[in-house]
Amino acid sequence: MGFLRTLFGKDTTTDVLDLLTAQHQELDALFEQLESGTGDRHAVFIVLADMLAAHLTVEEKVFFPAIMAKETNDLLQESVEEHLAIKRVLADLITMKLDDDSFKAKLKVLEEQCSHHEHNEEEDELFPKVRDAFTADERAAIGNELLVMFQDLMQAHPMQSVPAETSAAAELPPVPRS
Ligand SMILES: [Fe+2]
Repeated sequence: MGFLRTLFGKDTTTDVLDLLTAQHQELDALFEQLESGTGDRHAVFIVLADMLAAHLTVEEKVFFPAIMAKETNDLLQESVEEHLAIKRVLADLITMKLDDDSFKAKLKVLEEQCSHHEHNEEEDELFPKVRDAFTADERAAIGNELLVMFQDLMQAHPMQSVPAETSAAAELPPVPRS
């Protein structure tokens, strides 16, 4: 898959912002592939659901705690609420069949929520703040940790844990005192 080529190719970087942006692009491509109606849609949906679940988890467990600060707190609180909304739609989709009447509509909602969250909130607002506040080495260290967890999660169908995470947003650590 393109995503894995990105990770293991010779241009590999572990800058966390590059890794997360590459994951966003891979998710966009999977949505597109699924909506085009070609190929094995069920297999594509499983990959999409697993990747999205692992992506949300590594952001919540590694990325957000690493960048928590007075300047990012509001955006991160909003981010975990958006993650919750995404997980609720994803959890619905996981229980449905691809030919259910509302699957297509729900998938479109998921794509729109992901697109807003990934591009408008993260890439346009949050990532520039992180690029300013952290050195390249610091971003690479966060990226390394995130990548290890992501690859680990992907071994065991991370989509399975999504339905249990739909009652409340992930908890964030307190803002460190400066
Ligand atoms: Fe996110």
